[in-house]
Parts: sequence; C-alpha cells; structure tokens
Amino acid sequence: MKVEEVKSIVKTQRISAHSHIKGLGLDENGFAIQAAAGLVGQEQAREAAGVVVDMIRSKKMAGRAVLLAGPPGTGKTAIALAIAQELGNKVPFCPMVGSEVYSSEIKKTEVLMENFRRAIGLRIRETKEVYEGEVSELTPVETESPAGGYGKTVSHVIISLRTAKGSKQLKLDPSIYEALQKEKVEVGDVIYIEATSGAVKRQGRSDAYATEFDLEAEEYVPLPKGEVHKKKEVVQDVTLHDLDAANAKPQGGQDVLSMMGQLLKPKKTEITDKLRREINKIVDKYIDQGVAELVPGVLFIDEVHMLDIETFTYLHRALESAIAPIVIFATNRGRCLIRGTDDVYSPHGIPLDLLDRLLIIRTIPYNRSDMEQILKLRANTEGLEIDPDAITALGEIGTKATLRYAVQLLTPAHLTAKINGRSNIVLADIQEVGSLFLDAKSSAKILQENKDKFMS
Ligand SMILES: Nc1ncnc2c1ncn2[C@@H]1O[C@H](COP(=O)(O)OP(=O)(O)OP(=O)(O)O)[C@@H](O)[C@H]1O
Ligand SMILES: [Mg+2]
Repeated sequence: MKVEEVKSIVKTQRISAHSHIKGLGLDENGFAIQAAAGLVGQEQAREAAGVVVDMIRSKKMAGRAVLLAGPPGTGKTAIALAIAQELGNKVPFCPMVGSEVYSSEIKKTEVLMENFRRAIGLRIRETKEVYEGEVSELTPVETESPAGGYGKTVSHVIISLRTAKGSKQLKLDPSIYEALQKEKVEVGDVIYIEATSGAVKRQGRSDAYATEFDLEAEEYVPLPKGEVHKKKEVVQDVTLHDLDAANAKPQGGQDVLSMMGQLLKPKKTEITDKLRREINKIVDKYIDQGVAELVPGVLFIDEVHMLDIETFTYLHRALESAIAPIVIFATNRGRCLIRGTDDVYSPHGIPLDLLDRLLIIRTIPYNRSDMEQILKLRANTEGLEIDPDAITALGEIGTKATLRYAVQLLTPAHLTAKINGRSNIVLADIQEVGSLFLDAKSSAKILQENKDKFMS
C-alpha cells in the first residue's frame, strides 16, 4: 500500500459566511458562554453539540448519527462547523450538501461512499530512517540547462541540518528540492527528510528564531535532540479516501503526458469497490499489528432532506458497518415528502427507521438582541463599519425574514455606502437595500397574491 506521499485531500468548503466561527464557545464544564468563539446565544444546541464532541473524542460515537433541526438561519450549519473546529485538524471532518449526490456522471451511492471514506481517518505510526534537524544552509546548485538556451536547471541542492548533537551536510536530488519548495522550507525551519522516499516534512520554525517578527500562525519547535541521521517514529494522519485515491492513480512516470492523462480521466471512476475492499483488508491488518489506529471522524450532510430513499437506505446500511464515521445531518424542513417516493411523508423528510437512531439537536429562532450581536460580529469579520441604528434596522429585518437574509444584506449595504462616499454603513443604506431586495418570505407572499400573473 502506498502511503508515503499521501497528502490529505481536503475538500474545499464554502464556509466564508461562517468565517467568524472558531468553536462552540463552551466553558470548562461544558456550559455555553453567551457569546464566545464567534457564537452567540443558541445555548442549548451548543451544549448538546459539546456533548457530541466529547463522545467523538472518547470514540463512543462511531456509527451514530446526529440531526440538527430548526428553522432557516438558526445556526445549524454554523454549529456543525463549530464542531469541526473543536475537533481540530487531526479528526477528519467532511462537509457535504445533500444535493451533491445528484451528478450526471457519478452514481449517488458512489458520491456518498467517497465522502464516507473522507470522514474516516487512519493514524499510522511507522519507524522510519530520517535526516532531521534545523536547516542551517539551503543552496540549490544550478547548471546550464542541457537543452541550451537561457534556462538554468537545478542539478542538486546542498542542505545542512543541525541538531543539539551535531550537524550534517547533504547533497540532494532536484526532486527533493521540489519537495522542499512545496513545503516552503527556509533556513531556520526544523524538517525531516525520509531516507527511502525523499519525502520532506516541515515541522515548524526552530525555537532559536522565536524572537524574530513573524506571523502569529507560526509554530515553533525545539531543536531536535540526537543525531541528524536516525530512526524516528513518524505519525501520519490520512483518511481512507486518501488511501483509495493514492492507490487508484495510474502508477508510473510523472511526465507531462501522464499528468495530463490524470487530468482528463475522471479519477473517480478509478476507485472501485474491489480496491476499497483491498484497502480495508490492509487497514485491518495494520490495525491488528498495532501499526495503525482508526480515527472515526465526522461526515456532515447539510440539507439532508435533499437525499432520496435510495441514498437513505444505503447510508443506513453503511452506518451499520464496522468502520463508520459519525454522521451529522442538518435540515430546516418539518414534515415533508421523502424524495424518490410518491407519497411517503416523514418528519424532516428522513425515513422513520433512520430517524429512530438519531440524536436530535434543536435550534430555535434568535431574539432581537442575539441577532444584533451576530450581525455586529459578521460586520466586524468582513471589516465593515456600521452605525448602531443601522444594526437595529438590520436586526428588525432579520426577525421578520431570517438571520441569513439580514447577514446577506451587509455586502450590498456596504456598496451603497461606498457609492455615497462613506466608509460606514448608516441607516439609510439598510433602508435602501432593504427596498431593493426581497427576502424569501416576502417573495413567496407576492407570488401567492399575484398567482394569475406568473407562468405556471
Ligand atoms: N449563534 C450564532 N452565532 C454567530 N453566528 C451565527 C449564529 N447562528 C448563525 N450564525 C450566522 O448566521 C448565518 C446563518 O446561519 P446558518 O447558515 O448557520 O443557519 P442554518 O440554520 O444553517 O440555516 P439554513 O436552514 O437556511 O441552512 C451564518 O452566517 C452563520 O454563521
Ligand atoms: Mg444551513
């Protein structure tokens, strides 16, 4: 099984609307602080989510499922993302929207299975021969390009690594130079290079450089002890999907043609059930040998009412299997038709037998003051200045329509302010955009009142 070069394939998330959320904002006893970590109010749901986080951490949740249910704009997606933040980046969290399963090229169940495996982590411990230390010298050595012309190519790279015990100078291949560049390695970083594969891992900035003016996100690590060349226990976190993908890619040369080939061929069709079974077998073996450990993560299916009866059935069965993540659903629907059926109605559009095994967390509409607080937070995150009476007006709009709608008005209001030569949003801006746009409820009302004027 190929694991060395696997980089976790992180799904890009559409979370910009939730960028102010940093966690659940609970105190050490698990009680919600009214406003903390970017979350405001909705205390009960946040506390319940905290219990779920604890269960996930203590691995008591695998194969279970949670449903976040509540009206639109009450923070369901926000709370799910806060759970992801609380779990940290060692526990996989795979977000998806129910409607993602409908694609013309890929089977619905295939989409689900792929996401399922993105949500299951594997922590692999291996003893590897490495060169480790603080980079004290990094010099690419160039030669004239063999093809002539103006180009120069790197023929090799000289790197010096320093530990508390000594230092070593290494001469490395250009391919490793590329790996170093990819990891953005600079002098003063602590790294290790795997002797067999040449894989490079940057561990952080050396303590010795901690006084320099630097990004606050930088992680400082102590100067490694021991020799530069040594055996080291390397811990790697990957997801089952990472393993599927790494082992499904056509093997062989990394020339341009084969890379193009990979771009053209949809890689999704290459991961077969057979391959997954093989991977599972090897994973089981690794676990038995104590080399690897499963880390059940979270599959978050937003707008779950978009799934149909076929995918629900598949999902229910998958939850029963030995290796399963925790599934968190969210929906704003009440009783509705289960997709794919003609006449089966059910709460939240979820089949009863699946509903039966869910822990349900309810979210409730915000009061005015919570709403204003959230709007202020959002304005802050987007770097917008907004007058207090404009916030009040937005809060009013939020209570009549939804919080989501009120949040969305911030951007056009800021534009209106700019057009009027102001940097801060004032009441008039809110009134102007409020009259330009419609929220869903008012739009629906107009439709209802003017039924005869629309095509149907
Ligand atoms: N308690 C909260 N604290 C801070 N921000 C919040 C809170 N609840 C919601 N928000 C923010 O308000 C906006 C709308 O919330 P969100 O999208 O989470 O609602 P939702 O319940 O998922 O709605 P829908 O049912 O329409 O999907 C988002 O920008 C979200 O980050
Ligand atoms: Mg949502």
